[in-house]
Amino acid sequence: MRGLLKMKRLIELFVLFVLAPLCARCVNLPLNDDVLGLIVFKADVQDPKLKLATWNEDDDNPCNWTGVKCSPGSNRVVELNLDGFSLSGRLGRGLFQLEFLQRLSLAKNNLSGNINPNFSRVGNLQVIDLSGNNFSGIVPDVFSQCGSLRVISLANNKFFGKIPDSLSLCGSLIAVNLSSNQFSGSLPSGIWSFSGLRSLDLSDNALVGEIPNVIENLYNLRTLNLSRNRFSGQIPDGIGNCLLLRSIDLSGNSFSGNLPQTMQKLVLCGNLILSRNLFEGDVPEWIGGMKSLETLDFSGNNFTGRIPSTMENLQYLKVLNLSSNGFTDSFPESVMKCQSLLAIDFSHNLITGNLPATGSLAKLQFLNLSGNSFVGPIPETIGDLKSLSILDLSSNRLNVTIPDAIGGAVSLIELKLDGNFLEGEIPSSIGHCSSLTNLFMSHNNLTGPIPAALAKLSYLQNVDLSFNNLNGTLPKQLSNLPNLHMFNISHNDFNSELPTGGFFNTISPSSVASNPSLCGSVVNKSCPSVLPKPIVLNPNSTSDSISSSLPPSNNHRRNRNILSISVLIAIGAAAFIIIGVISITILNFRVQSPTSSSSAAALALSVGDDFSHSSSPDANSGKLVVLSGELDFSTGAHALLNKDCELGRGGFGAVYRTVLRDGHSVAIKKLTVSSLVKSQEDFEREVRKFGIVRHQNLVALEGYYWTPSLQLLIYEFVSGGSLYGLLHEASDDYVLRWNERFDIILGTAKGLAHLHQSNTIHYNIKSSNVLIDCNGQPKVGDYGLARLLPMLDRYVLSSKIQSALGYMAPEFACRTVKITEKCDVYGFGILILEVVTGKRPVEYMEDDVAVLCDMVRVAVEEGNVEECIDSKLRGNFPVEEAIPVLKLGLICTSHVPSNRPDMREMVKILEMIKCPSELQEELG
Ligand SMILES: *[C@@H]1O[C@H](CO)[C@@H](O)[C@H](O)[C@H]1NC(C)=O
Ligand SMILES: *[C@@H]1O[C@H](CO)[C@@H](O)[C@H](O)[C@H]1NC(C)=O
Ligand SMILES: *[C@@H]1O[C@H](CO)[C@@H](O)[C@H](O)[C@H]1NC(C)=O
Ligand SMILES: *[C@@H]1O[C@H](CO)[C@@H](O)[C@H](O)[C@H]1NC(C)=O
Ligand SMILES: *[C@@H]1O[C@H](CO)[C@@H](O)[C@H](O)[C@H]1NC(C)=O
Ligand SMILES: *[C@@H]1O[C@H](CO)[C@@H](O)[C@H](O)[C@H]1NC(C)=O
Ligand SMILES: *[C@@H]1O[C@H](CO)[C@@H](O)[C@H](O)[C@H]1NC(C)=O
Repeated sequence: MRGLLKMKRLIELFVLFVLAPLCARCVNLPLNDDVLGLIVFKADVQDPKLKLATWNEDDDNPCNWTGVKCSPGSNRVVELNLDGFSLSGRLGRGLFQLEFLQRLSLAKNNLSGNINPNFSRVGNLQVIDLSGNNFSGIVPDVFSQCGSLRVISLANNKFFGKIPDSLSLCGSLIAVNLSSNQFSGSLPSGIWSFSGLRSLDLSDNALVGEIPNVIENLYNLRTLNLSRNRFSGQIPDGIGNCLLLRSIDLSGNSFSGNLPQTMQKLVLCGNLILSRNLFEGDVPEWIGGMKSLETLDFSGNNFTGRIPSTMENLQYLKVLNLSSNGFTDSFPESVMKCQSLLAIDFSHNLITGNLPATGSLAKLQFLNLSGNSFVGPIPETIGDLKSLSILDLSSNRLNVTIPDAIGGAVSLIELKLDGNFLEGEIPSSIGHCSSLTNLFMSHNNLTGPIPAALAKLSYLQNVDLSFNNLNGTLPKQLSNLPNLHMFNISHNDFNSELPTGGFFNTISPSSVASNPSLCGSVVNKSCPSVLPKPIVLNPNSTSDSISSSLPPSNNHRRNRNILSISVLIAIGAAAFIIIGVISITILNFRVQSPTSSSSAAALALSVGDDFSHSSSPDANSGKLVVLSGELDFSTGAHALLNKDCELGRGGFGAVYRTVLRDGHSVAIKKLTVSSLVKSQEDFEREVRKFGIVRHQNLVALEGYYWTPSLQLLIYEFVSGGSLYGLLHEASDDYVLRWNERFDIILGTAKGLAHLHQSNTIHYNIKSSNVLIDCNGQPKVGDYGLARLLPMLDRYVLSSKIQSALGYMAPEFACRTVKITEKCDVYGFGILILEVVTGKRPVEYMEDDVAVLCDMVRVAVEEGNVEECIDSKLRGNFPVEEAIPVLKLGLICTSHVPSNRPDMREMVKILEMIKCPSELQEELG
């Protein structure tokens, strides 16, 4: 029996597919079988997501198939809902076999082609939803039997031509959506008499004609959307009969005239959108009676007169857009009483007077009053708008200063004040607007500097400050802004060097044009200086693109600016005064005991023109080179280096801490081996070599200063002191825990490994050269300095530099062995032993000297190595880590350099000691 059935169906399919195209009449075959119809439909479409996989032609009925619903009694298909199934292809004739179908929804697929004229055969249809497909063509007159049709949506397709007249026959329609097609011509007149119609959406087509007064029949209408068509004429009085209207959108047409008085009856209406038409006249007072209004958009019309004060009654109003009309007179304060407002747009009118006080609008996010004739100040109340994200007051006549209160608008993303007569300075309170992304203040009369706080606004993308009278120096930190896209400061009076790095390396010349005193490579003007060889180098730029050989300018005005950007380094040490190195500035002369004051080597590092008068002729030979973008000497930093700030002394010289005026701490090393130092060129070449090495476990060199008799190295300041101090000089109750010690060893190894990878030998590794930062991470300092010596003299290295006994590799004593980076590995090995045992490399006792590595070696050989481990740890350490680390230290101190591991291997081994499981895997 089944076999027979199947055979029958095959024959039917054969007829349908093969014969039907040949013979149009054949479609009248008795194919009332829903399975057959659906299978044919399926065969016509592509189903890439296999949504129709359950549609099996062998089933007796389709009632269990995805998207199909049958009436329970008859098992005939009444509903087909295939929304969002990603189907493409054409709508074949299969569906028209479903003679009991009531609801057909194929929305949001990719179906294409025309509507089949056979559509009219499905007379039971109540819902047709073909929206969101690719259907096209003229909709045929298929609605002759649409007595049951309640909902039709053809939205978002590519239908064109007239809306078929037969739609007038569908008197039961309650929802019509033909939006976003290319329908043209006028509407079938019957539409205006569908008394059940609740929703009419014809938006975004090319329809013409007027709204007839018979719209009064549509007393069930809730939503009317005719936007973006070519409708014209006036709004008829009849609209006042549609008392249930909640949303009216007539925007983007050519409607004209005044608003009919009858509209005031539409008290349920929440959205009234009439933008971009040709409406004119006053906005009537009765608008205040449409109490449900949430969105009122009259923008882009020809309304005139005063904005009615009755608007204050619209307590639900969220969006008020009256922009681009001809409103005049002053701004009605009453509007500011609409507590629910989120957005106000009054831009491009002819409004005069002062800006309204805005304080009460706690929810306001958008305020645009641009393009009017407002005068006077920006009210302080602007700072109360905590939710405000966009404020546009541009193109008015505001003529006072920008209030500090602007910083209270903490949510601002966009601030536009351009095209006014604002004067005074940009308030630094703007730094509180931490989300600020776009800042436009061009074409005003602003003066003073760019506040440094601006450089903290990390979201900044577009900044336009052009055409003002801003002056002063540009904060260097601006170059750290990560998202900057536009920074226009043209037509101002800035007189410093342009920041370098980041966005500023590629800033367009037009963005900085017309600042007569601005210098930098972008403006093609080297930054001049009172010094003949003044340069601030960007290590990334190829050699001296900022020329160092330009003669100093004779222009008087220029000279003033030069002084303000040049850097003077003054040393107030008596000895240096005598040899006249550079100018002397005693900034902080304190009364001290005779002994200490005589030795108080007060070193003043001063920047800015404050001290210009103190520059001596010898200053001419000074040269400051900044290697790091973070080091800012431009903001007028000056600081005092004196003996009280001495951090320590090493083989190469004393180190002082100083705080620049911008709060940035640096450590400055004054090289004392000046007699050994090479020529300026050699010095610079070598310093630059290790100056560009950057690693989190290396103390960064931020810059240097050179004169023939004084060399300074400017380092990052590391706050936690030296490893030596923590191990040997800390109070008894401070004990480095095992994990901290291990991290220090590992970090130091990483720093050294990086150094070696950069072809730099440290030569001077010891615990006093390992600094600990505030996170407990070690940073290796003082590297590479041996390169500054005229030659690698073993005697000098061992006696002057390797002054700390115990760390020096044995090859220093042997003239035949080449000194390689393995000498650092030796020193590091000693450092490991020192960290684990807590003992100095060499301890002097009353009548004995204990050498640490010998002591540990003996202990290992005798099998009581655990006793070597720092007793301060009180046994709180994992033996399985401590012993291998200690043995590793011994391996590093091998007398034969090639037996020592290299630093990269050391890092790996240490990491495996920390994670023994990986070690086993590696071994196993
Ligand atoms: C539909 O499937 C259910 C189980 O999934 C089954 O019990 C029922 O008989 C099926 N109905 C038809 C009409 O095939
Ligand atoms: C939509 O259908 C067309 C042809 O009908 C096809 O070329 C296109 O790839 C389909 N797009 C998607 C997203 O399936
Ligand atoms: C706006 O109205 C004024 C006077 O009422 C008229 O002169 C002007 O042409 C109108 N503009 C438009 C675009 O209709
Ligand atoms: C701002 O402009 C108005 C009108 O031109 C003028 O009365 C007022 O004095 C100006 N205020 C300032 C501070 O310049
Ligand atoms: C700008 O301010 C200066 C004084 O600060 C004044 O002389 C000048 O007229 C102002 N320019 C404009 C366009 O307001
Ligand atoms: C900036 O200009 C103001 C006057 O407009 C002046 O008083 C001030 O000294 C200038 N500042 C600098 C750094 O040139
Ligand atoms: C130099 O270039 C590197 C990488 O290109 C960059 O990280 C660094 O910030 C630059 N330094 C300066 C001072 O521009």
